[in-house]
Amino acid sequence: MTDEEDIYFLEDQTITLDDFPCDKGWILDFGGGGEGVIGQIKESQVIAIDRRESELLEAIENGSKALPIIMDGKELKFLDNTFHTATSFYTLMYVPEENLLSILKEFYRVLTLKGKFIIWGVNFTHPTEFDKNLIAFRLKIKLPSGKLIETGYGTRKKSQSMKQIINFAKEAGFTIITSKEEGILFQITLQK
Ligand SMILES: C[S@@+](CC[C@H](N)C(=O)[O-])C[C@H]1O[C@@H](n2cnc3c(N)ncnc32)[C@H](O)[C@@H]1O
Repeated sequence: MTDEEDIYFLEDQTITLDDFPCDKGWILDFGGGGEGVIGQIKESQVIAIDRRESELLEAIENGSKALPIIMDGKELKFLDNTFHTATSFYTLMYVPEENLLSILKEFYRVLTLKGKFIIWGVNFTHPTEFDKNLIAFRLKIKLPSGKLIETGYGTRKKSQSMKQIINFAKEAGFTIITSKEEGILFQITLQK
């Protein structure tokens, strides 16, 4: 358990998720444990990978219908050119900066040509005047079904930005299709 006093809280956030079209094949969801949001929206079309079994079990309890697999994003056990779509719902904030490029390269490898990687994330910088171990925010998520999820995501990372992720994504070989920021939240669609 983490003492709330050791957490620097960003402002509370709300996100309304639209269903996103992807007719073809499996969706590979990176870090699909926890709430298992993508597995709740796209259900059995989703393969949810997470390096922690406990997080995958929690996602099932929360209503994810994804196929759960314990796997590290740094070393995907899939063949090249397998998936038309991959997703990362607030997972890159858990990835140390030194691993971002190798993970993006792995997702590039397993996507088909023109395959898309959709990333939801948050911009943050730990203020120097606070000496906390974690940075976190509470998030209300409105699913296309009307279900409301109230959760929170926290990390030991000191900063993350959409610009930083876009730079690593380009280096991994991706083209940026869309990028939008709303307050501190952002969404990027990458294409192989
Ligand atoms: C808290 S979740 C993010 C929110 C989640 N996508 C949801 O729908 O609620 C982040 C997950 O990423 C997983 N994770 C972090 N780094 C990983 C890695 N390198 N490979 C696989 N899973 C990772 C963590 O175990 C954690 O369960």
